[in-house]
Amino acid sequence: MSPMPEENPSEMIYLNNAATSWPKPPGVRAALGDSLARPVFGSGRTAGSQGDDFVTQAREALTRFFNAGPEENWICTHNATDSLNMLIHGFLAGVEGPCHVITTALDHNSVLRPLYEQEKQGRISLTVVPFENAIVSPDAVLNAIRLDTRLMVMSHGSNVLGSVQDIQAIGEILHEHGVYFIVDGAQTAGHIPVDLGKLPVDAYVFTGHKGLFGVPGTGGFYLRDPDRVTPMRFGGTGTDSFSLFQPQEMPEKFEVGTPNYPGLAALAAGIAFVGSAGTNAIAAKAERQTAYIIQELAKESNMIIYNMTPHLPIVAFNIAGMENDDVGFILARAYGVISRIGLHCAPLVHQTLNGGNGCVRLSLSWFTTDEECRAAANAIREVAANAHSALSQA
Ligand SMILES: Cc1ncc(COP(=O)(O)O)c(C=O)c1O
Repeated sequence: MSPMPEENPSEMIYLNNAATSWPKPPGVRAALGDSLARPVFGSGRTAGSQGDDFVTQAREALTRFFNAGPEENWICTHNATDSLNMLIHGFLAGVEGPCHVITTALDHNSVLRPLYEQEKQGRISLTVVPFENAIVSPDAVLNAIRLDTRLMVMSHGSNVLGSVQDIQAIGEILHEHGVYFIVDGAQTAGHIPVDLGKLPVDAYVFTGHKGLFGVPGTGGFYLRDPDRVTPMRFGGTGTDSFSLFQPQEMPEKFEVGTPNYPGLAALAAGIAFVGSAGTNAIAAKAERQTAYIIQELAKESNMIIYNMTPHLPIVAFNIAGMENDDVGFILARAYGVISRIGLHCAPLVHQTLNGGNGCVRLSLSWFTTDEECRAAANAIREVAANAHSALSQA
């Protein structure tokens, strides 16, 4: 049997970028290495500290890239999941009595599980707004709003269907009704232009290791008004250390303990890379390559494609008569094509698509070449054609 493709990355066609992007730009790898070349001094914490302040650099990069300040309103965390937990629990801690919260069937477990936990504890009642053709309509959100609705949490881009939601329209409706709006930008940050100076969101979550080309274990959030969220973590900040209570200043209100300095150095370099490539150029290339793959796959009569016109570089499909994990395994072993199979941590999407059977997901990045798209499409078509002829002979 041929070796697993991970053993030889140069022979692998990596199409699992929605999980975590690979390869990383040379500048990111260099920043990661350089950050370890000398000891890091947390600013203000260490005598004689004048080393690079990687946290501040990351915050400056985020502020510029997303066009939203002040810098201290950017909080660095472990990842998008961590950020969503801090924001959801932290916002609801400030709401008196049980309230109503809205989310969508497109959302990831990083949104759903904190909300279902709140519901289990009797602190919220939850409405899950369905989607149609991969889109959550602003009207459906409007219809879900009740007098006691205090919060809506939703993903900007679907990690299964690659659709981008109309955050502008939804945010305007929510704000007219006084509803706080948390947006999960894990799949949009770095893939499409996101101007937080204009979008009506109260909190925006990003992850470092996908479209921003940083490393796993980095992410964070932007808070328009820090007073609306209660800290969920307490500990050392290197400031006001005589106080036994958490400082209320930003960013110390939410950032505790020793930061992931190498990860933040990599994040700043990743953002610089995306900035120089340009999100418009990144989105245009992604759209062209994704459309090509979909058009090729659609030539096989036994191909089930769940997203014919995605906005993000994601293709979700099944081959009729085959399990998605078998397809993924064959693609990896026989062709070196790395996909992601199963439910993609988004169970409600899959329930809507096909009763929860899951599918195969291909996800591209700026580094995906046209040749890789061609080879992957050919490989998938060959697997489908073989399945088709095996079925017709049976
Ligand atoms: C839409 C969405 N939200 C949240 C997450 C969680 O991201 P992280 O791995 O940074 O916690 C993901 C990643 O898989 C995602 O696709």
